[in-house]
Amino acid sequence: MIRFIVAIDSKRGLADDKGIPWNLPEDKRYYREKIKTAPILMGYNTYIEHDSPMNDKANYVATRTDKLLKEGFTAVTHPAKFLDEFDQTKDIWVIGGAGLFDSLLDNADELYITKIEGDFNCTKFFPDYSEDFELASQTETKTDNSINYRFTIYKRKK
Ligand SMILES: NC(=O)c1ccc[n+]([C@@H]2O[C@H](COP(=O)([O-])OP(=O)(O)OC[C@H]3O[C@@H](n4cnc5c(N)ncnc54)[C@H](OP(=O)(O)O)[C@@H]3O)[C@@H](O)[C@H]2O)c1
Repeated sequence: MIRFIVAIDSKRGLADDKGIPWNLPEDKRYYREKIKTAPILMGYNTYIEHDSPMNDKANYVATRTDKLLKEGFTAVTHPAKFLDEFDQTKDIWVIGGAGLFDSLLDNADELYITKIEGDFNCTKFFPDYSEDFELASQTETKTDNSINYRFTIYKRKK
């Protein structure tokens, strides 16, 4: 199963030029719990924000160039092909950012989306998923640091 995990605001924004503009400790915990279950695939810009692997599974980094990566990360030059060929009986998390989500949305089976209320003036956005995915579950609205949000799961329409 190919799962995306992301937190977005009301405009589908996921980051501004400095990074993620909100601080939601509960969402960070949720995210860490989820991604520890399987290998992860991230874009190069997301990779550079991390000094070490984010779980004890494979940490793949999409990059078109031949860069030397930090220990514990593995480069993937053709991520769509990589996911096409990924063992479908196993799971993988695609963790962003915007560029990678945009180029791989067609490969996704499920989207784990933390929906945050409000406009955080983001400059990077999650692609429009409304046509191909339907809501499978959502939590009640939670509040953290005065920010309202909920956890949702979308599945690809049959
Ligand atoms: N809100 C959230 O849940 C969330 C989640 C993750 C990240 N973020 C934020 O998103 C921001 C980064 O997003 P971003 O869009 O700038 O960058 P990104 O998607 O992390 O990385 C983009 C880079 O990944 C590589 N890449 C992407 N698609 C590729 C493809 N199809 N084939 C080969 N390589 C590919 C390219 O690297 P090369 O240039 O090396 O070729 C590209 O420049 C950060 O601020 C991060 O904090 C937010």
